[in-house]
Amino acid sequence: MKRLGGKVAWVTGSSRGIGAAIARLFAREGALVAVHGRDPEALSAVHAEIEKEGGRAIAVAGDLTKFAEVEAIRQQIERDLGAIDILVANAGGSFTAPGPLEDITEDGWRASVEGNLTATFLTIKSVLPGMKARKAGTILTMSSSAARRPNPRSPVPYAAAKAGIQILTQHLATQVGPFGIRVNAIAPETILTEKNKQWISEPMQQQLIEAHPIRRLGTPEDVAQAALFLASEEASWITGVILDVTGGAVMV
Ligand SMILES: NC(=O)c1ccc[n+]([C@@H]2O[C@H](COP(=O)([O-])OP(=O)(O)OC[C@H]3O[C@@H](n4cnc5c(N)ncnc54)[C@H](OP(=O)(O)O)[C@@H]3O)[C@@H](O)[C@H]2O)c1
Repeated sequence: MKRLGGKVAWVTGSSRGIGAAIARLFAREGALVAVHGRDPEALSAVHAEIEKEGGRAIAVAGDLTKFAEVEAIRQQIERDLGAIDILVANAGGSFTAPGPLEDITEDGWRASVEGNLTATFLTIKSVLPGMKARKAGTILTMSSSAARRPNPRSPVPYAAAKAGIQILTQHLATQVGPFGIRVNAIAPETILTEKNKQWISEPMQQQLIEAHPIRRLGTPEDVAQAALFLASEEASWITGVILDVTGGAVMV
């Protein structure tokens, strides 16, 4: 029995990294997946992988910081796959380097807030009227361990934007619970995505591993398994949770 059989899932930022792992796993579990990002080549690659495995997916491109584009993407998904049951608002990233607050540029600050908090808000705003009308749905947001405690390795604007996503998640969970909609967040520690592998050297990896009670770094699949649980019926009484997926790193 597939855990997401027949559900329509929009996974934002699934052209690569954590989002791609979530899209692949959801498709394996029977979801009809909207693979989304901005890079057409990366999008087609994930789309092709899913179809090769026998899953069903479409690829949709667009920038989530513009509400008109978000609406166009949602409408395309609804036209091609049907009403959205699951939104994984995963797209985001850090747009500035770690360091003292006074060195952060205004553009760097705005990019971090727009690319994480605003993009998450606009995506949820777009799917919510449909979910409320149907009195069903589940929404996952993507925070970060950067928002769980001050860490000199995290850029301040990124941490602040992700902290904003956490309270947005919990606030929304209280608003939409009565409509049968669950809203939860995942907060991963550094994940060994293809992108991160390019800049985290072997010695740095060893150093990071020592900071994890479970002595390894996380993979995109670790985060995907957490997302699958929260999106599935097994989590039907769980809402407003910020789930740390960190190998225990966030508590030490
Ligand atoms: N990797 C980690 O260590 C880690 C740890 C904690 C939290 N997270 C969070 O997990 C999420 C995924 O991270 P990742 O490492 O997998 O990122 P990634 O490899 O950089 O991929 C980011 C994805 O988001 C898309 N995206 C970014 N901004 C977008 C926008 N404005 N509009 C549309 N699409 C946009 C990208 O699309 P294109 O590339 O196609 O443009 C890509 O598909 C992010 O929210 C990140 O902050 C990551």
